[in-house]
Amino acid sequence: MSQGKRTFLVLLGVPGAGKGTQARLLESDLGLPQISTGDIFRYNLKNDTELGLLAKSYMDKGDLVPDDVTIRMVEDRLQREDCAGGAIMDGFPRNLFQARAFDAMTADSGGVSLVPMITISDEEAMRRITGRRVCRSCGEVYHVEFNPPKQEGICDKDGGELYLRNDDTPETVRNRLYVYYKQTSPLVGYYFAHDLLFEIDGNRAIETVQTELKTLLAGGEKVT
Ligand code: AP5
Ligand code: MG
Repeated sequence: MSQGKRTFLVLLGVPGAGKGTQARLLESDLGLPQISTGDIFRYNLKNDTELGLLAKSYMDKGDLVPDDVTIRMVEDRLQREDCAGGAIMDGFPRNLFQARAFDAMTADSGGVSLVPMITISDEEAMRRITGRRVCRSCGEVYHVEFNPPKQEGICDKDGGELYLRNDDTPETVRNRLYVYYKQTSPLVGYYFAHDLLFEIDGNRAIETVQTELKTLLAGGEKVT
């Protein structure tokens, strides 16, 4: 069955580039939900589901969760009503197999609309990830130095406890970066070839990156 045109943004970037931070800021502006596969796995883990337990064994090492499980999970998520207009994809697709599956999933509604790629150095990624703190209840993302909460250890939004993700240790981050270059970076060529890729310098303040993303989405200059 053919659906109307929908908007699907795919945010690319190394771990720590700011995909989650930017996606959350864009949500209300675009009226589209952020779909973070990492967040969905963490939600499942928190609730002790079978999927959560399976995902944990991969996530703790910084490896990708198997494609069949991940793709099925995204297919289910896209059925929800809040995706009627599309979605902001954060952390999916993450390899060529997933990218092709996503193309098939969205073919009826116009496919992927745009792929903003947020670039930062590996050193910056390490700084950002090891200083990151996440709200245990609502998932809001902070940084102890670059984006601190008003009160240390407490979420500004809902007062939840802030924690350090299990996979945010230097050793796991190194493997996540390796996995990114090996498995996810081929998507750069894939989306470039489809004329969908736009590079955004992520080494600037969160608000500056957000403004540039909005300009890009409003049909502004190609930012490469
Ligand atoms: P996932 O949760 O997606 O983690 P990731 O890709 O490693 O990305 P991060 O969440 O670490 O970084 P981000 O770009 O969102 O940065 P953030 O905005 O938080 O995946 C986790 C795991 O789940 C994977 O390793 C894998 O096992 C599994 N998984 C997920 N998706 C999968 C898939 N499709 N297939 C298979 N497995 C999958 O920002 C980072 C920090 O920097 C924060 O502290 C933030 O406050 C700060 N910050 C952000 N922007 C700025 C800025 N401009 N200036 C200064 N500080 C900033
Ligand atoms: Mg994230």
